[in-house]
Amino acid sequence: MTIHVWGYLDELAIEREEIDAAVASVLESGRLILGPQVAAFEQRFAAYCGAGYGVGVNSGTDAIFLALKAMDIGSGDEVITVSNTAVPTVSAIVATGATPRFVDIDPRTYLMDVGQIEEVLSERTKCVVAVHLFGQCVDMTQLQPIADEHGVRVLEDCAQAHGAEHRGRKAGAMAEAGAFSFYPTKILGGYGDGGLVTVRDASFCERVQRLRFYGMKGRYYADEHGYNSRLDELHAAILLAKLEHLDAYINRRRQLAAVYDRLLADTGLVLPRTAPDNRHAYYLYVARHPDRDRILEALREHDIQLNISYPWPIHTMAAYRDLGYREGDLPHTELAAREIFSLPMFPSLKDEDQLRVCETLSDVLSRL
Ligand SMILES: Cc1ncc(COP(=O)(O)O)c(C=O)c1O
Repeated sequence: MTIHVWGYLDELAIEREEIDAAVASVLESGRLILGPQVAAFEQRFAAYCGAGYGVGVNSGTDAIFLALKAMDIGSGDEVITVSNTAVPTVSAIVATGATPRFVDIDPRTYLMDVGQIEEVLSERTKCVVAVHLFGQCVDMTQLQPIADEHGVRVLEDCAQAHGAEHRGRKAGAMAEAGAFSFYPTKILGGYGDGGLVTVRDASFCERVQRLRFYGMKGRYYADEHGYNSRLDELHAAILLAKLEHLDAYINRRRQLAAVYDRLLADTGLVLPRTAPDNRHAYYLYVARHPDRDRILEALREHDIQLNISYPWPIHTMAAYRDLGYREGDLPHTELAAREIFSLPMFPSLKDEDQLRVCETLSDVLSRL
């Protein structure tokens, strides 16, 4: 039997009764768009994060885009982020008309090297998008004072960091806004697309609410140019049901990570490092080895799926050539892209399957 790297279909089987009940209640209510499920989910998810408000939107990409639009970021502005992220972090910046500028990563955590921000700051820099990658938070303690000193705003990309903590604060509540994705594989995942913007203050919240709804506050009258990007009632109801289990999902992920840490300790793999002030939520368990591609191939022959997040740094992709970066500009990012890979990690991963992954991997590594 194949061991998959993601497990949302296994999880759906386990959660089926709760999901069916949530879906049935929405269908019976007849209310499908911006109703009580969305309002309840926005309120409860924001409270879970410790943020002031939540605004449900269509996807994580839209959450980033709309948060940046609500900051009035657009053409002529620059936004600093990393190249070692999912494409949507950067495509959302580009969609506003702004230009992304990249800093390299810390090679130990794969997170933004906050110490490089001042090197790429310019008169045009309006925002830093801090990507809390793989389930671990960027060093916001170091980042926020730098941003404040230069009058630059901060958006957290929390698509991979539901429930992750830095100094006891959760992702999504450490800056003025945070962007979440509920794509099915995420730590809190739906069964389709979905996203949410967490915000600190009420006027920012109202702005994002307007932008996701054609620029309208009430009905049929637009105060500004807006979009259609709503989380729907069905998905909000499913996410509300799953939110009850979010801490249990994270605990299971942390438990699986501890087993990987123990069983793979002496194999020659570089295992994930948690920064001292962080509580990792392990969206991914990312290991590193110079012979990465041979390892992936060997495990595939044993019916074990591994994944690479991400094999190509964004600044080297054809779509982003116009940004003017070259191979060699972000050396830690580029080397990591050649060496990292992620192991199966999802709450319903069975202990015996994880053991098989570790034994196979150890065996393959001992023969390299
Ligand atoms: C870091 C990061 N940012 C943004 C996104 C975009 O989220 P979505 O797929 O919901 O648009 C994702 C997920 O793909 C992600 O991993």
